[in-house]
Amino acid sequence: MVIFLVCRIPQAYKWATSYTATKERPLLDMSQGVPGIPPPPILLEALGKCAANPRTCGYCPMTGEPLLKASLVREMKVTYGKDSDLCPDDVALTAGCNMAFITAVMSLADAGDEVILPVPWYFNHEMTLQMLGITPVPLQTTPQEGFSPSPEICAKLVTPRTKAIALVSPNNPTGATYPPSLISAFAFLARRHGIALIMDETYRDFILSGVPHYLFVPGSLQGQSGLPANWTWREHFIHLFSFSKSYCIPGHRLGAIVASSEVLKQVETVLDCIQICPPRHAQLVLHPLLSELRPFIRETAESVAHRHELFKSHLPSTWKIGSQGGYYAFVRHPFKGVSTRDVSRRMAMEAGIVTLPAGFFMPQQPGTKDGATGVDDRWIRFSVANVDDEKVKRVCSRLKELEAEFGWELDI
Ligand SMILES: Cc1ncc(COP(=O)(O)O)c(C=O)c1O
Repeated sequence: MVIFLVCRIPQAYKWATSYTATKERPLLDMSQGVPGIPPPPILLEALGKCAANPRTCGYCPMTGEPLLKASLVREMKVTYGKDSDLCPDDVALTAGCNMAFITAVMSLADAGDEVILPVPWYFNHEMTLQMLGITPVPLQTTPQEGFSPSPEICAKLVTPRTKAIALVSPNNPTGATYPPSLISAFAFLARRHGIALIMDETYRDFILSGVPHYLFVPGSLQGQSGLPANWTWREHFIHLFSFSKSYCIPGHRLGAIVASSEVLKQVETVLDCIQICPPRHAQLVLHPLLSELRPFIRETAESVAHRHELFKSHLPSTWKIGSQGGYYAFVRHPFKGVSTRDVSRRMAMEAGIVTLPAGFFMPQQPGTKDGATGVDDRWIRFSVANVDDEKVKRVCSRLKELEAEFGWELDI
């Protein structure tokens, strides 16, 4: 069976081709979640040198270079706490986090099985499941709850076919960052039902205070995490990471799966077929640099957080932020009875602001076009990562102007 799935970002760029950019009014792209700055010179220079070394042209071990696994584990102990029970053998390196996700689900589920995803969802997760014949089961989140999923509602969606719950925190598209207590509740739920909790933590380095969660710390060493004393993460937890955002190297394609040896056995078979090995030279370059790059990551995260603040303070009061974090702000447009797809489309075509409508991140209602979800169809994803502070301010003033120009009734 051939499944026809539409890639979402090219659709938004297609709208933008109708916009005539000028020097005074350039295109303002807040659609794609890509780093707005290059990697630091030390990393760029090392990548260049290493690429010229013939030794880096061959395959490496299927699950990646052991030295980078060891460095990643050292960094994870800084991020998740020194008591984290992690070792290099828990890691498989992949060609990016999307590769990590497809590998993880292929290792856990067969066609006909189910994986629960909070909605709005990261569209590549949903598309991956569809391509594999695995049913994505929507777990609706609401603006009232800051787009955080409910473990109680999730529990009702578990069936004998459920193989995993997959969360993204900080979230794409909503930016919602789930508190450790909520993540503990989902881990506990997964354990109760004997299923996996997969967490895509692509944006974890953009959390400026506190740990992302306590799942890597054995229950016996935990204080108030909400996890039982006999908690050990390997039974039910699978962590996914991307080097794309933290190290600003999306084109070098590096990600990671952290899982039990049992899961990693399956992972290795899948990777052998779909990847053979992760891109080699970026691994060789990164392993001695990870700890040195920590201040760069911190500074980048601080500047993204500052841009979020700018966006919030300059946004016209008629546009409401529902949640914000990582790379994204999820914003409710002010136009009464107008679909979010139409608003995003006209913003790109007429005002030169490229964004993604929430409908791109939701199940489609039968018989409607992409973006017409019918459920409070007013939300738009803005990425604050790939624009500078000045552009964020320009976006906000254009939003104010277009309220009058579009001629739609305002819902205020
Ligand atoms: C939640 C999430 N996971 C994975 C990815 C892709 O990461 P990678 O470049 O490592 O494949 C993205 C990119 O936008 C993302 O937002």
